[in-house]
Amino acid sequence: MFLVDNGFNFDARLNLRFKAGIVKKIGNELAAMGLKKVLIVTDPGVLKAKLHENLVSSLNEENIEYGIFSEVEPNPRDTTCEKAAEMAKEMNIDAVIGIGGGSSLDTAKCVGFLLTNPGRVKDYNGKNKVKNEPVPIIAIPTTAGTGSEVTANAAITDAEQHIKMSVRSPKIIPQLAILDPELLKTLPQHIAAFSSMDALIHAVESFLSRRSTTITDFFNLKAIELLSKYIRPFYAEPSNTEAAGNMLFGSMFAGLGISNTGTGNAHALGRALGGEYDMAHGLACSVVFPYVMKYNAMARPEKFVEIAKAMNLQIEGLTVKEIGQQVVQEMFDLLNELNIPAKLSELNVTKESFAGMAKVAINNVAPNPRKTTEEDLIRLLEEAY
Ligand SMILES: [Fe+2]
Repeated sequence: MFLVDNGFNFDARLNLRFKAGIVKKIGNELAAMGLKKVLIVTDPGVLKAKLHENLVSSLNEENIEYGIFSEVEPNPRDTTCEKAAEMAKEMNIDAVIGIGGGSSLDTAKCVGFLLTNPGRVKDYNGKNKVKNEPVPIIAIPTTAGTGSEVTANAAITDAEQHIKMSVRSPKIIPQLAILDPELLKTLPQHIAAFSSMDALIHAVESFLSRRSTTITDFFNLKAIELLSKYIRPFYAEPSNTEAAGNMLFGSMFAGLGISNTGTGNAHALGRALGGEYDMAHGLACSVVFPYVMKYNAMARPEKFVEIAKAMNLQIEGLTVKEIGQQVVQEMFDLLNELNIPAKLSELNVTKESFAGMAKVAINNVAPNPRKTTEEDLIRLLEEAY
């Protein structure tokens, strides 16, 4: 199956620590890195669930000073990143630690580069605009979702124009990613569902991407295998450490995929929905995902067979076309079992917004395997309605 690729770039920095409960001892390693003062960037949910407490006591043990910025919101705004960066500047920190979901990690990445690069977040929207090395960025995910702990990307909302920006540079890949399945224990079920589906959609969209390569296929197939095996047990019981650990691996592998291939139409439409309706990212991508899969099946039939195999679906005796349909059906089943709506009409979305969202989404369809026009996007939204 491995073809000779037409040349490609692959950027990654894999500096991982993985162990249940590892956050309790991480201060030791941070002290060895020479860190004396850090800013913890997180959201109110993490504080409420006290997920930062082990990190804080571990910093105290090593006499590492810290401040906490806990104002990160879902779909984080550029103004929030800049406020956190102000605090970091005043403290004169050596490193920034993001702990939380993708929003907290992406905000921490922005703090990291804003400290060593002039101007505002919006000056760095796009590819390779970050010139100077950021201060060290340490990422501690508390969901198995974005894979942001290994990606070269930060998704930030322009607070004035209400559009999603994307800062993309290998320089903002975290120096250190700490994967601790115990942090996922108290995840509310709906967030477990949205973030897990987001991770699976990353793996699938990256695998099907026009920009996929032998290297990203390797990570994405492993991600699809792990995520589809553990997504149900994890949703049923986030405190199942084995399931949580494998979901963290899966989302991290998928992160290595999307960071190098981009995503497809589910993310193009999901981002537009997120901007228009301030909908949770995982939910917005999930609700359109099965329809996008149906649309894409004819473009990569052989890859749909590989997805079916990685998902351990029963495909014996089926034709390639039937296997594609089976994969699409599995995505509908997953949404149903994870209690995620598979219809936009259930989410107070109105048809009047379709044309506007298609106009936004068309800018993000380039990696999608099947050619897509604005009219196609409107049809996909209508089907998902
Ligand atoms: Fe995503």
